[in-house]
Amino acid sequence: MNHRRAFISRATALLVAGPVVALAETAGPKLRVYKSATCGCCSKWIDHMRDAGFDVTATNVADVSVYKQQYGLPPELAACHTGIVEGYVVEGHVPADDVIKMLRQKPDITGIAVPGMPMGSPGMEGPNPANYVSIAFDESGNTSVFMAHGPDA
Ligand code: CU
Ligand code: CU
Repeated sequence: MNHRRAFISRATALLVAGPVVALAETAGPKLRVYKSATCGCCSKWIDHMRDAGFDVTATNVADVSVYKQQYGLPPELAACHTGIVEGYVVEGHVPADDVIKMLRQKPDITGIAVPGMPMGSPGMEGPNPANYVSIAFDESGNTSVFMAHGPDA
């Protein structure tokens, strides 16, 4: 598939560019985000991704569930916003480091999600951070833990 090949060459360029921090100094991966206009935690997550070097375009939509369905998100993994980066889905408050890891490793998955809105995840900062995981999912409905986060991780 064409867009797959284009993604691989872009990802290779990222690898050549060096460590993760280099993302902030170059034109970062383009990330499209669909969210509701009133979502404050979505905007905070977008700031987190921009700080990590992602080139974010956010679109306010009336019904975010339309996009979750369209991009094959298992309903039980739903959170607030839905992002698309290099052909992968990023659902909810996924840490930027997880997304960068995915873009480097190019796993054969649809995307990664942090379901619900766990306290302590990027954009959900607060006094009582929880343990949470990002979950990889594919088009067959298979899921697996991608990364563990939180005070005990
Ligand atoms: Cu949220
Ligand atoms: Cu959100």
